[in-house]
Amino acid sequence: MIDKNHKEAAPTIFIIFGITGDLAGRKLLPALLALYSRRMLPKEFSIIGISRRIWTREDFRQFIREHIKIRPGQYKEEDVKHFIDHIEYEQGLFDSALLYESLKSRIANIENRFKRCCNKLFHLSVPSNHCEPILKNLSELKLHEECSDELGWTRVLVEKPFGNDIDTAIRLDKLLASLFREEQIFRIDHYLAKEALQNILTFRFANSLFEPLWNHNFIDRVHIRLLEKNDVSGRATFYDSVGALKDVGQNHLLQMLALTAMEEPNDFNPENIRKERARVLKNLEPFPTRNLKEAVVRAQYKGYENEKGVAPASQTETYFLLKTFINNQRWANVPFFLESGRALKEAKTEICIYFKDQNTSSKKSEKRENVLVFRIQPDEGIKIRFWVKTPGFPMLIEPKTLSFKYSDIGTEDAIPDAYEKLIHDAIWGDQTLFASTDEVIYAWKYITPIIRSWGTVTLLEYPKGSMGPIE
Ligand code: BG6
Repeated sequence: MIDKNHKEAAPTIFIIFGITGDLAGRKLLPALLALYSRRMLPKEFSIIGISRRIWTREDFRQFIREHIKIRPGQYKEEDVKHFIDHIEYEQGLFDSALLYESLKSRIANIENRFKRCCNKLFHLSVPSNHCEPILKNLSELKLHEECSDELGWTRVLVEKPFGNDIDTAIRLDKLLASLFREEQIFRIDHYLAKEALQNILTFRFANSLFEPLWNHNFIDRVHIRLLEKNDVSGRATFYDSVGALKDVGQNHLLQMLALTAMEEPNDFNPENIRKERARVLKNLEPFPTRNLKEAVVRAQYKGYENEKGVAPASQTETYFLLKTFINNQRWANVPFFLESGRALKEAKTEICIYFKDQNTSSKKSEKRENVLVFRIQPDEGIKIRFWVKTPGFPMLIEPKTLSFKYSDIGTEDAIPDAYEKLIHDAIWGDQTLFASTDEVIYAWKYITPIIRSWGTVTLLEYPKGSMGPIE
C-alpha cells in the first residue's frame, strides 16, 4: 500500500467493539471492504469483531455476507471472500474481564502469525456509556500500550455522540487522555469526511470570487439542513435515548456550521484547521434558555411512540429547528438556522447561503436574493441562484440557476464513502477529519443548556412524510 510518504503500513489489527451493531453493518464493514478492494489497507491486517451475541464463526460470516450490501459487479468475489477470511469474532460482555483476557490472547496469536508487534486500532462503535468500561478493561490488561509510536502503535476511534452531555464528555475525555496522547485519539464525526463538505473549504479559499462577500455585510442568513426520510425503526431504542439534537445536531450540523463560518487557517495542517473550526463553536452565542421557545422548534412525528423500542409517552424529539448566532465581527447578527428531522417528505443535506438583496429599491415582496447552495447529499454539488432579464420587450427579471454536480466529473465509485476516508486517515495518523477535544467540548457547552431546558418547549407533532411541523 502507498501512503502519503510512500511507505508500507505495518501489520495492523482492527478491533471493533459493537461489530453486530447497525453502524458496523451499514458503514464500517463496507468501508473496510472497499479499502481492501482498492488495495488501501495494510498488506497484512486482521479484524477482530466484538459483540455480546453468542455466535459461531459461521453465524458471524453469514451476518457479514448479509450486511455488506454489494452492488452486482462492484467487487471481485475472491476479494470479498479473502476480506471475510481476515475477520475473527470475539464474543463477550463489554464490562466482563473475561472478554479482555480472551481478546489479549487472540491479539497475541495474530502477532505470532505476523511475527511482530502489530499496530492496533480500537474502534468503539458502541453507545457512549460503554466507552468507559471498555477503556478501563483495555488498560487493566495494558492492551492500550504501544510498542512504539511508529511501529506497533495503538490508536482509538470513538464514535459520536461523544458523551451524553458536557459533564460526561469531559469525563470521557479525561479517561482517554489518561491512556492515550491526543495524536492517538480519533473522535469520529463522519460528516467531516464527506467529500462535498470537505469541498467547502476549497470552494471558499481557492476561489477569490466569494470570500470577500463571506461576512455580515453581504450575507443575510444561512440555513443548514439534514433532512431524512427514514423513520427510526431498527434503531428506535438507541434513538429514543438521544433524540435528534444529540444524534445529529451536537455534531454533524455544528460541524457543517463550523466549516461554513470558520476563518482561513494560517496553513492547512490538521491542527490549524481544527483550531479554526473550534473557534467558531466557542463563539456560538449561548441560548437564552429562559426564552428558549423563541429560538427553537422541536417536534415528534405522529406514530413515533408506536415504534418498537420507544418508551411509552416518550418526549424525544425527531425534529428540531434552531436559530443561532456567532459572536464575532464577521458574522454579527447573521442568523444560522439548523434544521434536522426524521420521517420527512424528502431526504437532503445542504447548506444554503442567502445573500442580501443590495438593491435598495427592491420591495420586500420581490426580494432578489442570490443563493449559494452546497448540496452535501444526495446529488452532491453546488448551485447558485442569480437573476437575469427575461427575454422580450418589457423589463422583467427572473431567477436562473448555475449548477455543478459531482456526478459530472466522476463515477459514484470515485467518491470514497466518509468511513473509508476516516479509516484510511486513522491508519495514517491524519486527524484533519476528526473532531478535536476542543470542538467536542465547545459543541456540548452550547448544546447542553438547550437539552436541559428542552422540557420548557412544547413538543409539536408532524405527520410522517411531511415537511415537518412548519410546512
Ligand atoms: C448518524 C446518525 O451519525 O448520521 C444517524 O446517528 C443519521 O441517525 C446519520 O441517520 C446520517 O448520516 P448519513 O451519512 O446517512 O447522512
